[in-house]
Amino acid sequence: MTNLSHLAYYIETFGCQMNENDSERIAGVLDAAGGRRAASAETSGLVIVNTCAVRAKSEEKLYSYLGRLRGMKKTRGLVIAVAGCVAQLRGDDLNAERPFVDIVIGPDNYHRLPELLAAGGTGARALTAWSDGWNEDERRLLVRASPTSAFVTIMEGCNNFCSYCIVPFTRGREKFRPLRAVLADVETLARSGYREIQFLGQNVNAYRDAEAGAAFPDLLDRAAAIPGPEWIRFLTSHPRSFGPEIIAAMARSRAVCRQLHLPLQSGSSAVLGRMNRGYSRADYLAKIRGLREAMPGIHLSTDIIVGFPGETEEEFGETMSALAEIRFSNIFSFRYSPRPGTSAARMGDDIPLEVKRRRLAEVQALQKTIQTGIHQSFVGRTIRVLGTGRSRKDPAVFSGRSEGYQVVNFSAADDPVGRFVRVRITSAGPYSLRGEAEAFEPLPPRSVDYHP
Ligand code: SAH
Ligand code: SF4
Ligand code: F3S
Repeated sequence: MTNLSHLAYYIETFGCQMNENDSERIAGVLDAAGGRRAASAETSGLVIVNTCAVRAKSEEKLYSYLGRLRGMKKTRGLVIAVAGCVAQLRGDDLNAERPFVDIVIGPDNYHRLPELLAAGGTGARALTAWSDGWNEDERRLLVRASPTSAFVTIMEGCNNFCSYCIVPFTRGREKFRPLRAVLADVETLARSGYREIQFLGQNVNAYRDAEAGAAFPDLLDRAAAIPGPEWIRFLTSHPRSFGPEIIAAMARSRAVCRQLHLPLQSGSSAVLGRMNRGYSRADYLAKIRGLREAMPGIHLSTDIIVGFPGETEEEFGETMSALAEIRFSNIFSFRYSPRPGTSAARMGDDIPLEVKRRRLAEVQALQKTIQTGIHQSFVGRTIRVLGTGRSRKDPAVFSGRSEGYQVVNFSAADDPVGRFVRVRITSAGPYSLRGEAEAFEPLPPRSVDYHP
């Protein structure tokens, strides 16, 4: 195997949880080849930028970061690699337009990084070929960033082609990880004391393993039956393929969190049609009703796009009324951004920037009120929180997440990281809850035979 023992590397990650998990995969590949992690770009010999292309702004993050790296490269030797979705999308053009970029590598090629680096890594062509099957070998090397909460990728790619979305072009078609590999991963994580597992994929509901005769509900059932991890979550779901079988599988397992991210995008059936989402407002509302009937109190979150081509004030109003009716516990909202090669890019970006801005502000103001109300209902209650770290604002305060995925900042006598803690909620704002730890739950046994 290639030996990179001379190399200190640093990974900068932009984008979604899939990219975060891929950075753990890249770290695994480099560590196996003898690389060692540097604490910052400044102290490294190799910087890998794991990029996102979902909106123009996400892509611009790469270009401004590359500006910084270029400055560093002028003063000392530095190998610059661009990985992830922009690498896959722009390929050779990235090298051609920015010759100081040494390596361009797409998500299906990370196992080849050591080989590229050993070859000198300078002026290499972009590696963006798709592989047919699922490469399990490099997943086994994965170096996890958290000892408590683990991402487990179960599928990659997307066949949905929502008209605005670049992801089918950056991640290719759907590919599924074999069920036995997923379950083996969960068992290993359980043995090593992980408390929370988050299954990842662009469209997890589409999961299937033909050989095992399994679909997504079977995966949930089998994973939830493995003793250990108390919390199981998954993302992202698509309303079109989110059926009653999945609701039933969630409801019958206490390990599956009463929390779901289900992107709505728009409250207008006409806009949903132009987005090629494959469901209407009424279909979506029916799914929400089904979820709430099966799991009262479930926390729901969503994604919203404002200013999609042709979005009238009336259509936008339908998004506002859907938000008011559903009352999500959290939303991620975006101004529409035309992406190259998508079918919506050909519709023309006709909503003026100031209108998009105003609509986004309206969505966010409404959600702020809704969220404040939901958070207020926690005050005075004692809830279960998984400790994840210290608050960014005040290091004397710890932070964690509730089962509903609320951010909880709390005081505690001991370090609660990696522990389930009973926290009494004393106050709440629109974006987080605040409280005091009342009791720590005991830690599960960690097996000694685990080799990460
Ligand atoms: N597979 C996931 C992730 C998609 S990207 C999913 O289907 O949800 C995450 C969110 O970014 C999307 O849900 C959408 O709300 C937003 N998004 C995607 N493309 C966009 C675009 N061109 N402009 C604005 N927002 C976009
Ligand atoms: Fe993009 Fe739609 Fe696929 Fe999500 S489901 S990744 S929004 S094409
Ligand atoms: Fe971005 Fe790629 Fe994720 S485009 S949202 S990093 S799949």
